[in-house]
Amino acid sequence: MPEGNAFERVIKQDRAARESKQWRGTLLEYLERVRSDPMVTKLSHARIYDLIISNGTRDIQDTDDPRTKRLYKDEPLKVYNFFADEFFGIERTIAQIVRYFHSASLKGEESRQVLYLMGPVGSGKSSLVERLQRGLEASTIYSIEGCPMHEEPLHLVPRHLRREFEKMLGVHIEGDLCPVCRYRLKEEYGQRYEEFPVETRSFSKRNRIGIGVVPPVDPNNQDTSVLIGSEDISKLDQYSEGDPRVLELNGALNVGNRGLVEFIEVFKNETEYLHAMITATQEKVIPAPGRHGMVYVDTCIVAHSNEAEWQKFKADHTNEAILDRIVVVKVPYNLRLSEEVKIYQKIIRNSDFRAHVAPHTLEVASMFAILSRLEPTSKCDLMTKLKLYNGEEVIEKGRTKKIDVQELKEDTKREGMSGISTRFIMKALDNALSDNVLGNCINPINVREALIAMTKEADLPDDTRKQYLEFLQDVLHKEYLELLEKEITRAFVYSYQEQAESLFQNYLDHAEAYVNKTKVRDRNTKEELSPDEGFLKSIEEQIAIIGSAAEGFRQEVIAYLWASSRRGEKISFKSYEPLKEAIEKKLMTSVRDISRIITKARTRDEEQSEKYSAMVKNLLENGYCESCVDVVLKYAANNLWKD
Ligand SMILES: Nc1ncnc2c1ncn2[C@@H]1O[C@H](COP(=O)(O)OP(=O)(O)OP(=O)(O)O)[C@@H](O)[C@H]1O
Ligand SMILES: [Mg+2]
Repeated sequence: MPEGNAFERVIKQDRAARESKQWRGTLLEYLERVRSDPMVTKLSHARIYDLIISNGTRDIQDTDDPRTKRLYKDEPLKVYNFFADEFFGIERTIAQIVRYFHSASLKGEESRQVLYLMGPVGSGKSSLVERLQRGLEASTIYSIEGCPMHEEPLHLVPRHLRREFEKMLGVHIEGDLCPVCRYRLKEEYGQRYEEFPVETRSFSKRNRIGIGVVPPVDPNNQDTSVLIGSEDISKLDQYSEGDPRVLELNGALNVGNRGLVEFIEVFKNETEYLHAMITATQEKVIPAPGRHGMVYVDTCIVAHSNEAEWQKFKADHTNEAILDRIVVVKVPYNLRLSEEVKIYQKIIRNSDFRAHVAPHTLEVASMFAILSRLEPTSKCDLMTKLKLYNGEEVIEKGRTKKIDVQELKEDTKREGMSGISTRFIMKALDNALSDNVLGNCINPINVREALIAMTKEADLPDDTRKQYLEFLQDVLHKEYLELLEKEITRAFVYSYQEQAESLFQNYLDHAEAYVNKTKVRDRNTKEELSPDEGFLKSIEEQIAIIGSAAEGFRQEVIAYLWASSRRGEKISFKSYEPLKEAIEKKLMTSVRDISRIITKARTRDEEQSEKYSAMVKNLLENGYCESCVDVVLKYAANNLWKD
């Protein structure tokens, strides 16, 4: 098919789809529509709430990820699909936002309060609001034709008939005509409101339909026209005073009628300005410019700013009246490693960033971000805290560290409200790439370098800078070397996974026989053997389980795995964290020496060369590219296995 036709088809389909959603009629016809679907008249908060809910929800426990299960074990937390693809690790924040919309949709006090998102830079405040706006943009409303505020057509129904109509329609009618429509009703339709045309309109931020945005206003020019529109001065001498034809109802609060108004960096505005915002939510009216009385509005006001602005505002007691009308939702930084990685994957996916990202790169960058956000605790070091927050089990002396994550969290004051932002990390990724244009690849090594350089230059208090550099040059350096050693060594082990599973099976067979004082039946020869204690010990000693501790450990392993298999979980060498670690270490030990010798060697004999190429091939298959495989192996040769 010629190209042109394909385009034409898409265009036609699109137009047909759009037209099928459009409708135009009179108020009389609209009333019939309302009767068959009263939901079309819902108010802004309910509209947004339904939008969120209609995408579905699930329980955070309904996941295959054992780490998530562990983290949220007793918490009834819902995950909303509407947000889930784009927001990571801030489920609690999102649940609070949804709760606000839920109670507001029931027309409770919340529907008359401002939703205020407060959090550090780059924590996702603007993105959350943007998500709501995008959601709205996929929906349409019925509006009085030509109304600058696309108002609800039921406003045309005169007061004295409303009760009757409400009964007939099963809806509540609230709000009055705007001055412009009131004038047209009289002048153009001779008060025959039932003939007034009604049309559908789609929400649009750009076309300013149902979505208004208020940027922080120049403090020297706090002209309220940004909020409530203005009078067109050029028309003032044409019409008499009080003639609504001079009105330009194009302020953000007019525009955002039926939908949402966003206030960016809200507290940068003068208090007087904020009063207009508060009246709009509290009373659901705003003044019309000039002498045109008040105008009814129905909109969700969502404001956001950072904590410093909020504290400053809060400290001024003359602001009490405003404070009382705000629902504060904190939007802290995410503190879960796995989720932080997803944030950068998302940003990269949505950007023009087209370079290879070596394994562990985003992980290392994310670790830095999270370390900078954590508050210290006496219970463990920060890296351990990071892992616990990530739902990992931290092994110490052969035992899982018993620190309650919930308690750790409760011990903090304002964790997640400061530290390195997502933007700082993204900039570091960009810088790492521009320093390696040839390789077109970012890796943990060049990203860490970029982060160090940026931290040195950043405008930070000295002790913070010192701390950040310590994270980068010390904590993360060590952590990465550990990762790298594992990775390279693993790449030397031929069919790592199978070997690990077979060690695991063997360990289980022998440990079980040992615990139950029975025999082991050899899988091949069917011979009955006594449990091989030497073998058991060779695994256990990897995690420092020796002497009398061994018996207890074997019982724990068997009991743990037995319980898991009773729950229907699939058992593998990864099932019991301490044993997994022991098995991995055992496997590593078997190749560590050769791995060290071959990687560091300047010249290799034939056998070594073969092993080396097999290892490189393995790494390439596991996500490395020709460029970074070189970089990390050189790095390993210089930094690992120090003699
Ligand atoms: N928890 C998160 N999940 C997903 N993406 C996130 C998260 N936190 C931040 N981001 C992403 O980080 C980037 C910066 O976020 P955004 O601009 O929304 O922050 P902000 O809170 O509005 O910052 P500022 O206070 O500087 O305006 C965006 O691409 C956003 O999607
Ligand atoms: Mg923002």
